[in-house]
Amino acid sequence: KSIAVLFGGCSGEYNVSLSSAASVIENLDTEKYNLVLIGITQQGSWLRYSGTVEDIRNDRWHLHPSCIPSFFSPSREVRGLIELVHTEYHVTPIDVVFPVLHGKYGEDGTLQGLLELSGIPFVGCGMLSSALCMDKELAHKLVQAAGIDTPCSLTIHRSERMEEVLSEAEALGFPLFVKPARSGSSLGISKVNNRQELITGIEHAFIHDSKVVIEQNINGFEVGCAVLGNSDPIIGMIDEIELQGHFFDFSEKYSLISSKIHLPARIDEDTATKVKESALTIYKTLGCRGFARVDMFLTADGRIVFNEVNTIPGFTSNSRYPNMLQASGMTYANILNQLIELAID
Ligand code: DAL
Ligand code: MG
Repeated sequence: KSIAVLFGGCSGEYNVSLSSAASVIENLDTEKYNLVLIGITQQGSWLRYSGTVEDIRNDRWHLHPSCIPSFFSPSREVRGLIELVHTEYHVTPIDVVFPVLHGKYGEDGTLQGLLELSGIPFVGCGMLSSALCMDKELAHKLVQAAGIDTPCSLTIHRSERMEEVLSEAEALGFPLFVKPARSGSSLGISKVNNRQELITGIEHAFIHDSKVVIEQNINGFEVGCAVLGNSDPIIGMIDEIELQGHFFDFSEKYSLISSKIHLPARIDEDTATKVKESALTIYKTLGCRGFARVDMFLTADGRIVFNEVNTIPGFTSNSRYPNMLQASGMTYANILNQLIELAID
């Protein structure tokens, strides 16, 4: 089979995608699959790439001679897809596209819509589900309607009057989390403790998105579930994030300076069963297929509170998603084989 691996992209998680894609490419079975590598620059050009994985990891891939800008010099995903279909697809018919992209224009349903339109099977959630999971406000509304707790929150838009927003937000009680509604890897998120920090946090979040959610802090800790499958998904070993004071921001996620990930999570069997049941309900409610990492909080009084779903979770060799499935007995290569099978299922 020919697998087109997409990496890079226009979102703030470009570098995370390079690391995820490098691991995916290294672990895909090249006896089984013919790999077509397509890099997307931060400006949105799609380039066919045939250099080394190391040059993807260190962000030198776009300097490789194989990266000849295409005939139309595509500026964004639409043109890139047209080129992909018109050239690659006819030269080497692509059986499955594997978007190893995080965040905007990669994980948010836009690319998935184009792939659905093009009729090429692809790994992971479809257009609607990807878009819903990317939007923290909408995902929370649907999950809440399915009977699972979500943090009390307030959604604001740029046009709203700041005075009103501040008093409504303060009524939720500090500390608060201010989040761009549609972002990943905690980019643009602040934890705020007073009115001044709240104002700064809102301004910061609006740099990333025109819609911002302000959430109550949940007293407890975060656990994650790696879900894999279409109609009958399996779940890997649950993990737990132990924080030292601050929150799981971008630098903590990728350097783990003060935080620690426990695998398995330090929870009893009954709690683990409930966490897995909630993860499945969330996965189904949001229409997920293929794979996703479902993040939830466990409160001190034993409640499960939904946080978010990552439809293309970090996939580096030490990322949580592959680690959780490997801890339950699967190999990295086997996870990739299954994702490809699920794409054509
Ligand atoms: N958004 C990052 C890649 C994650 O959820 O792992
Ligand atoms: Mg997350």
